[in-house]
Amino acid sequence: MNIVGISAFYHESACCLLRDGRLIAAAEEERFSRIKHDPGLPVRAFRFCLEQGGLDITDVDALAYYELPAEKLGRQLWAGVPEGASPDLAWLDPAQPERALRERLGWDGPLLCFPHHLSHAASAFYYSGFEEAAVLTVDGVGEWATTTYGRGEGAALTSFAEVRFPHSLGLLYSTVTSYLGFRVNGGEYKVMGLAPYGTPRFLPQMARLIQSGAGGSYTLDLRYFDFLRGRRMYSEDFCELFGAPPRHKGEEVTALHRDLAASLQRTLEEILLEKVRLLHGETGGENLCMAGGVALNCVANARILREGPFRRLFVQPAAGDAGGCLGAAALAHRALTGTRPDCGSLAQVALGPRFPPPRIAALVEATGLRAKNFSGREAELLESVVDRLAAGRVVGWFHGALELGPRALGQRSLLADPRDPGMRDRLNRLVKKREEFRPFAPSVLLEHAAEHFDLDHPSPFMLETCQVTSPIALPAITHVDGSARPQTVDPALLPRYAALLAAWAHRTGCPVLLNTSFNVADEPIVCTPEDALFSLGTSGIDSLVLEDFVLDREELPENWGDLLAAWRAAAPASPFGRGRSAIQENLYTFV
Ligand SMILES: [Fe+2]
Repeated sequence: MNIVGISAFYHESACCLLRDGRLIAAAEEERFSRIKHDPGLPVRAFRFCLEQGGLDITDVDALAYYELPAEKLGRQLWAGVPEGASPDLAWLDPAQPERALRERLGWDGPLLCFPHHLSHAASAFYYSGFEEAAVLTVDGVGEWATTTYGRGEGAALTSFAEVRFPHSLGLLYSTVTSYLGFRVNGGEYKVMGLAPYGTPRFLPQMARLIQSGAGGSYTLDLRYFDFLRGRRMYSEDFCELFGAPPRHKGEEVTALHRDLAASLQRTLEEILLEKVRLLHGETGGENLCMAGGVALNCVANARILREGPFRRLFVQPAAGDAGGCLGAAALAHRALTGTRPDCGSLAQVALGPRFPPPRIAALVEATGLRAKNFSGREAELLESVVDRLAAGRVVGWFHGALELGPRALGQRSLLADPRDPGMRDRLNRLVKKREEFRPFAPSVLLEHAAEHFDLDHPSPFMLETCQVTSPIALPAITHVDGSARPQTVDPALLPRYAALLAAWAHRTGCPVLLNTSFNVADEPIVCTPEDALFSLGTSGIDSLVLEDFVLDREELPENWGDLLAAWRAAAPASPFGRGRSAIQENLYTFV
């Protein structure tokens, strides 16, 4: 049975293919369209999933959609027409998502829609490998629910309590994110990264914004929020409460901003811990599953695991709305077969496109760029990468299938020496072009993880923080509070990446590398080798490993900048960056 799961029309559109309950393919639309957080219909990701499964659309048994459009519209109408809403009123049509799915994907078969938070819950429980577990979902908002408490056992998955819009931990976090001058649905990581620099001196004010109630409930004091009207997230009362105007993008980050971030993060952690304890009181058991955008808060996750009552925690790596398609597909499988999908325990998320060596070789040849070919000589390839890392170079590492979710995990990664005290600032300034305070995460060989981090279990998806305990100074991946967000690398799952870490450890005695996502500035993570090649020419990346090929920036032709400028000029201008794909399609014609 082939089921295609789809999440779309809010942010982070994505698609997946579940065949007989097994996950075959999954990818976010942004990786193909090159539009960050692409909210549109995931046409390209849909095509990719069919191609990966070797399917024609007639081979698909059902589409599974990650939310209930009519219920969502009901909530939107309750909140009132937001300022700036499209005047064509198309958004008022609850049939619009289904019509788009049918007309634009050419689908005339069964379409099953599931509640947004049930899709989140299923994306965690059915992929956790747990036979039974408590399930917590927390996000901004779905249809009405913003937090749900439930339980999974075998094929059964039920929710027994929920918090409803407008009361929302996700919207609280996003409101403060917005007040601090960062982008809602994307800037929340920055607030989490900023928090350890501050002192949580605004806890009394936070207690006025949100009040934890009996059981799983909590309420926001709506005097302080303006998101119901859609003009902005926070109200004038909110600004008065903190005694300062909102920070605008690009303005200095002050002590007030740091302290507010710290206060928000502490408040979130405390409420989540309290609710997880209550959830355990209802469900018992040792296993907890989490999904929803708030479950990407790896600092809170670490506290839930360390201080909470559950012994094991599985967080869906694509915990945001992209991962909703995984849950919807699993729910459709259960609905159509009456059985639990055989997803097992999600061990890795390299579920996107991969590009075979001949394709890479043809690209390198077509561009005429100087590249070293290590085909069939992996040990030499890895030594050459280690040479570059040891020389302080930033290496773009492109290998295997693109990862699903916000983290690069050794397929589309930028790698660097974590021992280099200047590396964090250099990466933030020249490559990622982002705020100086933002930390970078490490990858560590699984067998050596406990020697360098206070971690006693695998953490393959960078979803929890822990203290750095390494005897080696690792300033580039150690946050200001001594923590890090490691990825443990299992050679059985990621053989070439593990071999690189082993070669690096053999040379330096350090089995840890800095690993950040292979993207520059605010672009999506690279998908194709063309994307990666483009990044080599437009950012501070020093070297690029395209599968078996190694390219160095200083060996690019002298007129490389002119060529890139010509590609840019040839691409149609667009405020959304849609020109990028056109630029890349022109790659061959200009070289
Ligand atoms: Fe969500």
